[in-house]
Amino acid sequence: MPASPSPWRLSVAPMMDWTDRHCRYLHRLLTKHTLLYTEMVTTGALMHGSVQRHLRFNAEEHPVALQLGGSEPDDLARAAKMGEDWGYDEINLNCGCPSERVQRGAFGACLMAEPQTVADGVKAMKDAVSLPVTVKHRIGIDKTESYEFVRDFVGTVAEAGCEVFIVHARNAWLQGLSPKENREIPPLRYELAHRLKRDFPRLTIAVNGGITTNAQIAEHLQHVDGVMLGREAYHHPWLLTTWDEAFYGDAPSTVTREWVEDQMVRYMERAHAEDGCPWYAIARHMLGLRHGLRGARKWRQVWSDHRLKPLPPREVWAMAQAHVSDEPEALPA
Ligand SMILES: Cc1cc2nc3c(=O)[nH]c(=O)nc-3n(C[C@H](O)[C@H](O)[C@H](O)COP(=O)(O)O)c2cc1C
Repeated sequence: MPASPSPWRLSVAPMMDWTDRHCRYLHRLLTKHTLLYTEMVTTGALMHGSVQRHLRFNAEEHPVALQLGGSEPDDLARAAKMGEDWGYDEINLNCGCPSERVQRGAFGACLMAEPQTVADGVKAMKDAVSLPVTVKHRIGIDKTESYEFVRDFVGTVAEAGCEVFIVHARNAWLQGLSPKENREIPPLRYELAHRLKRDFPRLTIAVNGGITTNAQIAEHLQHVDGVMLGREAYHHPWLLTTWDEAFYGDAPSTVTREWVEDQMVRYMERAHAEDGCPWYAIARHMLGLRHGLRGARKWRQVWSDHRLKPLPPREVWAMAQAHVSDEPEALPA
């Protein structure tokens, strides 16, 4: 265990529609130290849309990083400054999203073909804020196999002052695959992320993509500074309760599912009182909380039952609890 672990040692990935502030509130109940990322917010949304809707977050979420999507240096600088003013701990630039909508806006993964544009954007953001400015990217685009492509990308962007790179260790295929397929089909090549760390020892390099267990995390941490998990963290959030002990040297976690659920119900009550937020906009992020335990399926069904929408969340919780125990699910015979 390093004396003071890197802030990027473990993180939960930015995920559109998933890692909103309610989801991050849940994740923070499960782990104190893990860095949490927002969904991607485009510079356009901040220039022309509701800033409050996109940037608002709960004080409990720290450390929390704002992920931006964009390519125009002036817009990125303004958006980064907004993020700093709202109290975020880091500004991250998305250079990994393959969606066609994003490509039309000329940002996301297609920016990897234009390292100088990314460097200019990073420089503009660094000049505008005193927070760390970081980049999340892929190892290549389309069928490029060469390590040199990603090495030169990182080298150029690092020269503009970026010191932290989060490497989703597969290519983005910009044509013919949906964003979902682009998270599954291009092969994972972790070795490239590890090699970046060897070639740029002074940079902070975190690896992302397809990582699901603490053993895998520990193995990657032999080679790089950090590991980011996305889907596994979202679908099986209880894993997060093991991380402060396993990767930050804390005492074993004492949180229980009941405590977490009670905190979430209180949060739902508060969110409803403050701005009418319905409980199910929050509960949808906790459906994996009892994964693997007896009664988990029925518990999940109660929390996602549309007919219960008019009830107060505490009543819904009581109905869900009727199905659960802390026993593991019976194994199929
Ligand atoms: C529903 C969903 C939405 C995502 N949205 C974003 C996003 O807004 N920005 C981003 O950089 N990556 C996004 N990603 C990609 C993840 O951050 C991550 O790189 C990818 O899922 C691979 O990690 P994993 O295998 O641990 O899930 C998204 C992934 C999912 C599943």
